[in-house]
Amino acid sequence: MYIRVLGAGAGGGFPQWNCNCPNCKSLRLDLFSGKPRTQSSIAISADKQNWLLVNASPDVRTQLEFFDEAHPPNAVRGTGIKAILLVDGQIDHCAGLLILREGEPLELYTTRVVKHDLSTHFPIITMLSHYCGVNHHVVPIDGGSFMINDISDIKITAHALASRAPPYSPNRNNATPGDNIGVTIEQISNGKKLYYAPGLGLIEAHVLSAMRQADCVLVDGTFWTDDELVKTCGFGKYARDIGHLPQSAKGGMIEVLSGLPEKIEKHLIHINNTNPILNEDSPEHAELARANIGVCYDGQTIVL
Ligand code: MLT
Ligand code: MN
Ligand code: ZN
Repeated sequence: MYIRVLGAGAGGGFPQWNCNCPNCKSLRLDLFSGKPRTQSSIAISADKQNWLLVNASPDVRTQLEFFDEAHPPNAVRGTGIKAILLVDGQIDHCAGLLILREGEPLELYTTRVVKHDLSTHFPIITMLSHYCGVNHHVVPIDGGSFMINDISDIKITAHALASRAPPYSPNRNNATPGDNIGVTIEQISNGKKLYYAPGLGLIEAHVLSAMRQADCVLVDGTFWTDDELVKTCGFGKYARDIGHLPQSAKGGMIEVLSGLPEKIEKHLIHINNTNPILNEDSPEHAELARANIGVCYDGQTIVL
């Protein structure tokens, strides 16, 4: 299975347009020991030709421009992106659907509740019916696996996560199963499994079990500490309140990942611009390296 990291940043990307935090500032001044990151998205394929886009970020146009395998093979128009799966209806994961309006109808896979949000409160699906159109497919969250049209050899299983619905959704303060999902993506022919959850607020038993069964986990790397936004900017929200488990401290993501079998590849993705792990010279980056946890970057390819 080929996993291409199109964007390893969280909402806003790195640097963020209105941010002058130490990371964003020093990156702009060319004094930063680390790379910029576009917003959260990966692509998956078993054959390197037919790709599943998992999340469509507002940066998708640039991401695909630098992704050779996505370009039309011999036809004047066309794409290697055969379908799109969304793990939630957050802006950084779905606004890119609007950027993909020029092509064929989008084969879109979301849960029922995300489809509802994207047809009413943030009606991207409704709007797109006036452009390319959307063929919607429901992602089951009852533990059943499913396949994606035109993507051979890949099987997916999704489960609901205890996280937060997007700020525009009426479910924001009324969590509903399917607002957020974690997905296990398996290549049938070699049995290799990826567990992907860029927004992970709480490590429930079913999450831990899915992680333990995977060969590689790509999980929430948004914040180092719970109060990172508040401390860095002087205002803002706490990581746990917006559905992101911080990496450090007791019960944090490092502790969770360190408890997994050593043979499982571990990477953090969806990294916020304020996070010290972006700085490759930082003690936090070194701590992750010691724990054998990777920090995803744009353009990275992981092969399972
Ligand atoms: C999140 O991951 O919590 C959201 O992307 C935040 C946002 O949309 O600003
Ligand atoms: Mn996000
Ligand atoms: Zn910043």
